[in-house]
Amino acid sequence: MSNASSNIPDDITKTEKAAIKVAEPAQQDRREAAALEEGKTVGIPFCENPKFQLRNVEVSYGDTPAIRNISLDIARNEVIAFIGPSGCGKSTFLRCLNRMNDSIESCSVRGSLLLDGEDIYDPRRDVVELRARVGMVFQKPNPFPKSIYDNVAYGPRIHGLANRKSDLDDIVEGSLRKAGLWEEVKDRLDATATGMSGGQQQRLCIARAIAVSPEVILMDEPCSALDPIATAKVEELIAEMSESYTIVIVTHSMQQAARVSHRTAYFHLGHLVEVNETNRLFTAPEHELTESYITGRFG
Ligand SMILES: Nc1ncnc2c1ncn2[C@@H]1O[C@H](COP(=O)(O)OP(=O)(O)OP(=O)(O)O)[C@@H](O)[C@H]1O
Ligand SMILES: [Mg+2]
Repeated sequence: MSNASSNIPDDITKTEKAAIKVAEPAQQDRREAAALEEGKTVGIPFCENPKFQLRNVEVSYGDTPAIRNISLDIARNEVIAFIGPSGCGKSTFLRCLNRMNDSIESCSVRGSLLLDGEDIYDPRRDVVELRARVGMVFQKPNPFPKSIYDNVAYGPRIHGLANRKSDLDDIVEGSLRKAGLWEEVKDRLDATATGMSGGQQQRLCIARAIAVSPEVILMDEPCSALDPIATAKVEELIAEMSESYTIVIVTHSMQQAARVSHRTAYFHLGHLVEVNETNRLFTAPEHELTESYITGRFG
């Protein structure tokens, strides 16, 4: 992408230079608008036999659009990262995938959103069952003020997944093991979960999501409240979990997207600008807005 300042000739006056510099942001805005006008997503937004097939998705809060005509497939067992500047619609789009937006009264969702070929927004759909299939881990760990055991057992209990105490014990242990937390908590399963460290709480929330055997896990900035060690543990977990689940992760860390995801989707002002194989998107982006973002020119 061309950079306006590098085109300024050396023989002009300081005042002229300053005037050119002031004009740059407006020029940048126009370029941005032009780049978004077409509304097409470049790269590889679609795949064969997807887990999610999302077409012409539009989301508004009242009259204000937040997602503008986005189409995307999410493959089975892929880890896809959503990146983009604050307010570009990553969380809004993520929440469409298990109808978490339903609880926001002003929010309306249009378009076709299919999970395994079936309409996510079918009014006859059981939303509790949908959220068991498509679990969610939030930015801030949010364990219930209950024991470690009861946090993990909560979902299996309400979904009737275990008839006997020993079955429930097995699910709790298996989920805590998968979340890499068993060794740290096996001797204090009755302790209250809110007394754990932030990183442990986040892995507990992952264990809680896993306990109902979901097919998909949505993660909205799951590491933003964690230190680098806890972050590394959660990232390891994501890599292991991708063998069994489809994972969609929103992150502000491009390094994290590069480490954990197969494909990365770049959002900008409610548009889906580019979706590409992660390595490609960070080394040779196809869209100039993606390039501007990853090289730190805005965001
Ligand atoms: N509950 C809400 N009510 C009204 N507007 C909302 C609501 N949630 C989000 N928005 C608006 O929708 C747009 C997209 O917000 P969203 O939270 O999806 O962005 P984001 O990409 O996740 O940002 P961040 O990186 O800061 O988390 C923003 O303009 C935001 O102000
Ligand atoms: Mg967000």
